[in-house]
Amino acid sequence: MVEDSRISGFYKLSREERVKKLAEVTGIPIEELGVLSDPGKVDMEILDNMVENVVGAMTLPLGIATNFRINSKDYLIPMALEEPSVVAAASNAARMARTFGGFSATDTGPVMIAQIQAINVPAPFEAKLRILEAKEEIIELANKQDPILVKFGGGAKDVRVRVIDTSEGPMVITELIVDTRDAMGANAVNTMCEALAPMIEKISKGKVLLRILSNLADKRLVRVRATFDKDLLGGEEVVDAIISAWAFAEADPYRCSTHNKGIMNGIDAVVIATGNDFRAIEAGAHSYAAVGGYSSLTKYEKDTDGHLLGSIEIPMAVGLIGGATKVHPVARTSVRILGVETAVELGHVIASVGLAQNLAALRALGSEGIQKGHMALHARNVAATAGAKGDFIERVAEILVREKNVKVERAKEVLEDLKKN
Ligand code: MEV
Repeated sequence: MVEDSRISGFYKLSREERVKKLAEVTGIPIEELGVLSDPGKVDMEILDNMVENVVGAMTLPLGIATNFRINSKDYLIPMALEEPSVVAAASNAARMARTFGGFSATDTGPVMIAQIQAINVPAPFEAKLRILEAKEEIIELANKQDPILVKFGGGAKDVRVRVIDTSEGPMVITELIVDTRDAMGANAVNTMCEALAPMIEKISKGKVLLRILSNLADKRLVRVRATFDKDLLGGEEVVDAIISAWAFAEADPYRCSTHNKGIMNGIDAVVIATGNDFRAIEAGAHSYAAVGGYSSLTKYEKDTDGHLLGSIEIPMAVGLIGGATKVHPVARTSVRILGVETAVELGHVIASVGLAQNLAALRALGSEGIQKGHMALHARNVAATAGAKGDFIERVAEILVREKNVKVERAKEVLEDLKKN
């Protein structure tokens, strides 16, 4: 846990200095953070066992978002992604939420839904009732598959059944509601569903086909709200522009897709940094946004003083055990930096980053546009490509942006001139 996630001038430090600072503020020994700055330290043996036909590793930059305060606790947030501006934008938005205490997060618990599809059921509605009558036995058999989960307070808790109409005729879908505690839960619930198949076949007199979790994890929601200071945002005009930008997304799926993508910029980056399944989170987010017509995962309005009220509601199936989270050394270190104790707490952090990211994007889009920020970072990359090192990167980049000529050739000339002087 960090005392204060505001690290003044963090972005101005060299990478080595940032790692030192991170060690200092988190109390994590610098050797442990070594795995972040030297991807070569990740044991290939570990990666070789994660997927098939491994020949190497794909590394991504890992940045730290600062300024986050969520439920009265400060967090430094590791984000793994290739896109410039995202980490800076999240940190900046988090700073604007601090005036009114940061982010407030709640959740519906770590509850997953898993589906068992029965086809060729002779009397689907009767079968539905018979399955519901056998709820206790179903739950008992499901929980026998995972006594450890049950020991920690999780396990199958409920059963629901739906008869759906399909192009292949009616199907009886039995849904198991499972508290997966600190696991993402895919393995746990899929095992349960597979074990239940013969029982469901017997009761329904049909044939069970699919037995798999649903990524529309709408029983595993995280809700986050924050008040963003109107003066830090740039005044009431900016607040109004943000609300109009959000209303555009709510009204138009072409815009909404990009709007929600911006939310996922932040969310995926933390999901990836912590070794979680970003495809599951993406699927959950967009399918949840599509319930009742594709719409924004965030909402915005103004309080009576003109400050901006932002909120997000999103499925958040992330875990701290199982999957790559405990196996991948970078994911383990990211979780250490975050200082989260439970999967639900991790979900709070991730959804807060999503809200911050969206707010930052709408603010930029509703005022100066996003290209200015992108260009400044792009110019740094160009300066580095031209051979600039250390302080020179920033100095060359500044000149390129001022001249509106962000090209490697010009960067080389500027670098030479600066070195001469
Ligand atoms: C770019 O990766 C994300 C944005 O397009 C999001 C948005 O338009 O809201 C800036």
